[in-house]
Amino acid sequence: MKILVTGGLGFIGSHFIKHILKKYPNYEIINLDIVSYCANFKNLEEIENNKNYTFIKGDISDKNIVEKITQEVNCIINFAAQTHVDNSIKNPKDFIKTNIEGVYVLLEAIKKYNIEKFIQISTDEVYGSIANGFFSENANLEPNNPYSASKASADLLIRSYQNTYKIPAIITRCANNYGENQYPEKLIPHFISQLLNNKKVPLYGNGLNKRDWIYVKDNVKALDLILHQGKIGEIYNISANCEKTNLEITKIILKELNKDENYIEYVEDRPGHDLRYGIDSSKLKKELNWTPDYNFNEQFIKTIHWYINNKDWLKN
Ligand SMILES: NC(=O)c1ccc[n+]([C@@H]2O[C@H](COP(=O)([O-])OP(=O)(O)OC[C@H]3O[C@@H](n4cnc5c(N)ncnc54)[C@H](O)[C@@H]3O)[C@@H](O)[C@H]2O)c1
Repeated sequence: MKILVTGGLGFIGSHFIKHILKKYPNYEIINLDIVSYCANFKNLEEIENNKNYTFIKGDISDKNIVEKITQEVNCIINFAAQTHVDNSIKNPKDFIKTNIEGVYVLLEAIKKYNIEKFIQISTDEVYGSIANGFFSENANLEPNNPYSASKASADLLIRSYQNTYKIPAIITRCANNYGENQYPEKLIPHFISQLLNNKKVPLYGNGLNKRDWIYVKDNVKALDLILHQGKIGEIYNISANCEKTNLEITKIILKELNKDENYIEYVEDRPGHDLRYGIDSSKLKKELNWTPDYNFNEQFIKTIHWYINNKDWLKN
């Protein structure tokens, strides 16, 4: 199998590439990444000389490069995106360009040159906030910020291409990932980085916003299953059912770095901050027999220590 992975120098995409090349030594991967500020070649250092791996610097909204690669591959997995909600609030334009226009360019190329499967990496944030209970894959999309609106727009565009042009697409909507190699603008590596520099951590509002956390390798395991057994036209929620408030996450990080709660600086809440995301991933469990392998309490501590032990990566 030959796969185009887009955004493979980022957090989840790089874990996915390493997993696939290790588990399927005959598969070939082309990684198309624009090398934005959050891309990091170090994330793929261990496989960069693998004969089945090719890196191409480029933009998913560049029709020429996307068409050229699409003709060479069987499958496309789109991780490429602008991903930081705070940036989307300051500058939505880049999010429209990559997260919507980029997906449009991919879809047009797929329409022109047949491939077997297109997997769009979407997010639980497209459903919007839910105080209690869980969204199934059939729930309405009610995104509340420019990032989630751009991801939801892409999901709807894909739906229309499935229906109209029979594009062989699958959409995944995953909860918040934690793990090694996450760019330190996101809560966990950002807070660790601040504390390592003996600085306070900025916690939005009262810190009671809840997120559902999944270890990145459990997401990758789900994506592997979906790549091989996922049904065309379907949407799969991916959750390990592990909800924590941002304050709870912060307290665990503080403890591991031997800091007290005076290191928390409560800052003005993010505009339109979603209170809670909740997704039901029983479909993935029932239909593809997926279960998460990692226990949050153990793996989260290991993740914190990975950042502590990899200060050079954090600086880089
Ligand atoms: N991190 C999470 O918790 C999470 C949860 C659910 C869904 N997602 C989705 O998973 C995907 C990957 O997220 P991540 O956290 O690994 O992101 P990331 O920000 O770490 O990496 C994104 C990568 O995409 C690349 N990129 C950006 N624009 C591009 C473009 N126009 N063309 C080619 N490459 C481009 C960047 O250079 C970077 O390497 C995203 O689509 C995101 O919406 C992430």
